[in-house]
Amino acid sequence: MKTIKFIDLFAGVGGMRIALERSAFKNNISQKCVLSCEIDKRCREVYQNNFLDNDFVEDIKSINKKNIHKIVPDHDVLLAGFPCQPFSNAGVVQRRYLNRPHGFSDKKQGNLIFNVIDILRHKKPSAFILENVKNLGSHNKGRTLQVILKELRKDFYVPDPKILNAKDFGLPQKRERIYIIGFKKKKSTEFNYPTPTSQRTSVGKILEKKVSKEYTISDRLWTGHKNRKIRNLKRGAGFGYRLSKSNEPFTRTITSRYAKDGSECLIYQGKNKNPRFLTPRECFRLQGFPESFKISKYKTHAYQQAGNAVPVNVVTKICDNIFNYIFTTSKNLKKTA
Ligand SMILES: C[S@@+](CC[C@H](N)C(=O)[O-])C[C@H]1O[C@@H](n2cnc3c(N)ncnc32)[C@H](O)[C@@H]1O
Repeated sequence: MKTIKFIDLFAGVGGMRIALERSAFKNNISQKCVLSCEIDKRCREVYQNNFLDNDFVEDIKSINKKNIHKIVPDHDVLLAGFPCQPFSNAGVVQRRYLNRPHGFSDKKQGNLIFNVIDILRHKKPSAFILENVKNLGSHNKGRTLQVILKELRKDFYVPDPKILNAKDFGLPQKRERIYIIGFKKKKSTEFNYPTPTSQRTSVGKILEKKVSKEYTISDRLWTGHKNRKIRNLKRGAGFGYRLSKSNEPFTRTITSRYAKDGSECLIYQGKNKNPRFLTPRECFRLQGFPESFKISKYKTHAYQQAGNAVPVNVVTKICDNIFNYIFTTSKNLKKTA
């Protein structure tokens, strides 16, 4: 059986990990996570509640060029859905408003990609998957992505990144994300990103049968949403809230701020009835997490964690193609018995 070791950086609650494990199982590959890294205590609690113990680093900044070899074990695949706020449309607007730097100049989160590049350079895994918001590709007129690619391409074969949409991979959510994949060795063939499965689905597929009244929004919030939408339309700004019906093919992108007012996706409950929030479980279903996933008992944390996660179905397909690429064309991974 083939075996791989992997590390899970900016692990959140483990969306990337679930995807890799799912793909490995499907492809008859045994896998082991040898290091996870996540700064947020509440994410770590959920993560550790769902996965077997492995070594953990809290802040990626505690790994530097001098101690990488001591802290980071050898691995075959590196996963990193690095923080997106410094590059996202909303994050950039917010930072400009607060007169704070965005992109790489955001010293707290914007330059963490360089810590990942240091680890890649030192450890040279067979493959890596980086994930971020679609806007990373156009941030600073495309220069941000070019800087990242230039650095990565010094040591790795990195095909052009690809924007993939969760709705094309069997999930009823429009969620476009950029994926940057790389390999230690370029083979005789090019790596191909997965093509849409075009599996039909609908919002109704992720809805719970019985939902408590606590998820129905208050008259006050509903009036606020409707008034804001009218104001926005007059100003030609934004879309305001979005009502979703169960027969629609997909929702808007859910974000980490969903708990605030649910504006990305409110579920229609009939004429003259206030709509409702998605439940935390429904948000995790929208991201392709399994029913067995143990979510946080704190609603606000659960919404935030689901909104930050990767769409598991998309990353599973990417892992399928990565395994296919490295195992069919390379001998650089160990084969046991
Ligand atoms: C976009 S989320 C990743 C979500 C993850 N891929 C998933 O599916 O659940 C980015 C994560 O990076 C974490 N993070 C931010 N700064 C960090 C740092 N300095 N060190 C480690 N993790 C950090 C955040 O707490 C957040 O959970």
